Amino acid sequence: MYELNGKVTLITGASSGIGAAIATLFARLGAKLAISGRNEANLQRTWDECVRAAPAEADQPLLLIADMCSEADVARLVDTTIQRFGHLDILVNSAGVIEFGTIETTSLEQYDRVMNVTVRSAYQLTMLCVPHLIATRGNIVNVSSVTGTRSFPGVLAYCMAKAAVDQMTSCTALDGIQGGSSEQRQSRGDCHQGSQTRWAV
Ligand SMILES: NC(=O)c1ccc[n+]([C@@H]2O[C@H](COP(=O)([O-])OP(=O)(O)OC[C@H]3O[C@@H](n4cnc5c(N)ncnc54)[C@H](OP(=O)(O)O)[C@@H]3O)[C@@H](O)[C@H]2O)c1
Repeated sequence: MYELNGKVTLITGASSGIGAAIATLFARLGAKLAISGRNEANLQRTWDECVRAAPAEADQPLLLIADMCSEADVARLVDTTIQRFGHLDILVNSAGVIEFGTIETTSLEQYDRVMNVTVRSAYQLTMLCVPHLIATRGNIVNVSSVTGTRSFPGVLAYCMAKAAVDQMTSCTALDGIQGGSSEQRQSRGDCHQGSQTRWAV
């Protein structure tokens, strides 16, 4: 089993749902965490849970408020994590948003929101993290969705975004073989936490 103790892990979308659950689990297993999100109160709650779950001697998590749609914020995530821990072992791309609608009802604003948060920001963050992950022979976990491989009615932009995430995962993994980092996709069906109350996929 992959050893997480001491692994420096940057997690987006850690203020809620799946990202928050990953952060708490990784903390329990001894990972050194940089957790990010926009909602400060929610991210603080995750930070508190991580501290509670972590071994007594563990470093405290780094709490990073960042809007994934801001290129400067995304760059700051990497810079601050490296400044604090010196290296990076694992990147978890969990931040994502859903918009409902068909080609007739999904506006360009909705399309851009889904693509920017789910695809573009993950692309930028992965691009910036890859040199650090190659140096540590690290790992990338992209939280995808069953909508990346199967088509569903009424969630066109989201299905397109998750298909792009799946391709980013596969192509980057193939390209990364020479560099030495490995990449995994975590495809989710649906789950009953966080935005599930708002999402119906
Ligand atoms: N829930 C499901 O059934 C399900 C199924 C398949 C896949 N997924 C995927 O799993 C991932 C997490 O979903 P979830 O259910 O945990 O959703 P969630 O509870 O709504 O969490 C979404 C996370 O993304 C962050 N986020 C959204 N927009 C952001 C932005 N502009 N900048 C920074 N952070 C932003 C949110 O942070 P703030 O709230 O702090 O803004 C939050 O931490 C997503 O990629 C989603 O597509 C979920």
